[in-house]
Amino acid sequence: MWRTNLKIVGLVVAVLGLYTLVANSIPQLQSELPQAVELSGDVTPEQLVAAGERIYNGAGGCTACHGLGTRAPNLLTDEGGTGTIGARCGSRVAGMSCKDYLYQSLTEPAVHVVEGYQPIMQDMRRTLPADQIWAVIAFLESQGGTIDVTADDVRSAQQPSGGGGAAPPAGATASLDPREIMTANGCLGCHKLGDQGAAVGPPFDGMGGRLTSDFIRTSILNPGAAIARGYEAMAGVMPPTFGQQLTAGQLEAVVSFLSSQR
Ligand code: HEC
Ligand code: HEC
Repeated sequence: MWRTNLKIVGLVVAVLGLYTLVANSIPQLQSELPQAVELSGDVTPEQLVAAGERIYNGAGGCTACHGLGTRAPNLLTDEGGTGTIGARCGSRVAGMSCKDYLYQSLTEPAVHVVEGYQPIMQDMRRTLPADQIWAVIAFLESQGGTIDVTADDVRSAQQPSGGGGAAPPAGATASLDPREIMTANGCLGCHKLGDQGAAVGPPFDGMGGRLTSDFIRTSILNPGAAIARGYEAMAGVMPPTFGQQLTAGQLEAVVSFLSSQR
């Protein structure tokens, strides 16, 4: 009798495990727009951390890479014996404070690439307003460190031309030249084109010979719709935000350029 019971328990656990696996592998179809997080100029550290946590787990898209294993460093748990991110941020780069390191990690991620990882993270100013970036930094500091993001950081971030990292316009360029559009939007951070670019995703060379222009357009607007063969482990890495970042004209310029790569 107990054997049968054990078998049933085992089966239930296996089925639940399978469902969890399947649920985790279903790509997020619609990118969440950064929700309006209310951050007034006299926000408290606790409010900042709470807002930052919501952004981290939601619109920030951080969990597409962080916390899933080997694609990106753990932030909320230990990373190779160096501690959680709040505990290690102040000693990552000699002479750089925790706050400055985190701000640079989010806005110029290619300047200090953590050893053992690919530079696939993009400038978060493309998708998050500056005050939300400060909220995420406060949340990361709260993971084992000291929260020293202040209402002043948030206030100066909210000034249109203030210091503290005013956001560049989304899309970063108004050009209709496909190479310029792809450089400004970071495509070459992950795709190879001739002797440029990195091999995180499939190469742009020869893409027109392999894929129709409709397929290329869909892949850019909704990277989760079909995962390129051989790149299954990279599912979810391509940002789902290009539909908002590119104008219609820029999208068509890129699609026709890639379709012409034979
Ligand atoms: C496309 C995948 C991806 C996304 C999305 C992403 N990151 Fe990263 N991140 C990485 C990788 C890979 C690294 C390590 C390489 C590097 O330093 O650039 C990294 C590095 C970092 C570091 C430095 C970690 C350390 O140990 O010093 C921080 C902090 C960070 N990311 C925060 C964030 C936050 C916050 C978000 C969301 C707003 C985010 N990342 C979104 C891939 C990603
Ligand atoms: C952070 C890395 C990253 C960035 C930035 C990125 N991609 Fe990708 N891309 C990938 C990965 C990984 C894949 C393969 C997995 C998949 O299909 O989602 C992919 C797939 C594609 C595909 C489908 C290719 C195929 O063989 O099915 C196209 C087209 C594409 N990307 C175009 C672009 C364009 C255009 C840009 C810039 C506007 C861009 N990508 C930016 C990582 C990235």
